[in-house]
Amino acid sequence: MEELQEKIKQYQLKFDEAAKNVKSPNELQELRVQFLGRKRGYLTKLIDSLRDLSPEERPLIGKEINELKKYITSRLEEINQNLAAETRKTPRIDITLPGKTIPLGAPHPIVKFQEEIENIFYQMGFSVEDGPEIETDYYNFEALNFPPHHPARDDWDTIYIEGRDDLLLRTHTSPVQIRAMEKRKPPIRIIIPGRVFRKETPDPTHLPMFFQVEGLVVDVGITFAHLKGTLESFLRRLFSERIKIRFRPSFFPFTEPSAEVDISCTVCLGEDKECRVCRGSGWIEILGAGMVDPQVLKNVNIDPEKYSGFAFGMGIDRTAMFVYQISDMRSFYENDLRFLRQFLKQ
Ligand code: DAH
Repeated sequence: MEELQEKIKQYQLKFDEAAKNVKSPNELQELRVQFLGRKRGYLTKLIDSLRDLSPEERPLIGKEINELKKYITSRLEEINQNLAAETRKTPRIDITLPGKTIPLGAPHPIVKFQEEIENIFYQMGFSVEDGPEIETDYYNFEALNFPPHHPARDDWDTIYIEGRDDLLLRTHTSPVQIRAMEKRKPPIRIIIPGRVFRKETPDPTHLPMFFQVEGLVVDVGITFAHLKGTLESFLRRLFSERIKIRFRPSFFPFTEPSAEVDISCTVCLGEDKECRVCRGSGWIEILGAGMVDPQVLKNVNIDPEKYSGFAFGMGIDRTAMFVYQISDMRSFYENDLRFLRQFLKQ
């Protein structure tokens, strides 16, 4: 009998020792089987050995075994609760959930359209130039043959840098013509895409910041026919072979003669007297152009007796509106993804 009592104590110690190391529901189950298992559990063995005791001793030891069983059962339940609380704390990862998709960026429609224009000119042998967005009065106006205080300046609503009346945000890409001709001698055949700025209140057809592309060709024997041929092939590539193109006489201080170039309305094809895009005229104005004024060539020390050139300037955003048939230029800059995504596949 003492022997059995000793065994009961040993089993309790053994259980406590093993219980300390339980870290998972599986280990807990192993421990339960080890002690309470019906066939080979330690407690079952203890109960079996009751047979060897006298009828008086049996109930005494039986009671002790029962207490150990209760103790083990309640400890197992306690450990079970602790393990459950533990798993609730550590978030579990469900590897079958779909992953987080990181949205891909894409070029802005105006950037893509600019690249399209660049590609057409690359194929005609032009290269691409760049210039500063903050300009001096000299490059933006004076070297382009706008005399100081000349009323033609009023056509370009200029944003000046505060406290610096010689510095301004360029109102057109034309100053880069001057910079390019100062840097190198003819033959010159370049386009200059870039941002320009004007003091405008935003509305469907005006923005204080927009893009232009400038073109400049200077060489021996350049005539108006070169200007016309270049712009016609460019516009037919950009819009369609079928558009009609017309040149109207105009005025710019830096070109003589000057022209404005219209194409037949891409929206109503000249057939809708109420068309909102061409206002029923059948034509839309697309760019300004002309033969580089000899005075401009002199300003950069190119001999106008020897060389001649042509230049042109076109609004990129404005032209994109006609190509994509967008009625409000501001849509390009409102960053509404529903608008921008429409250009992804084009
Ligand atoms: N710079 C002019 C503008 O902003 C556009 C322009 C017209 C550019 C005629 C030219 C040109 O190079 O020859 O309205």
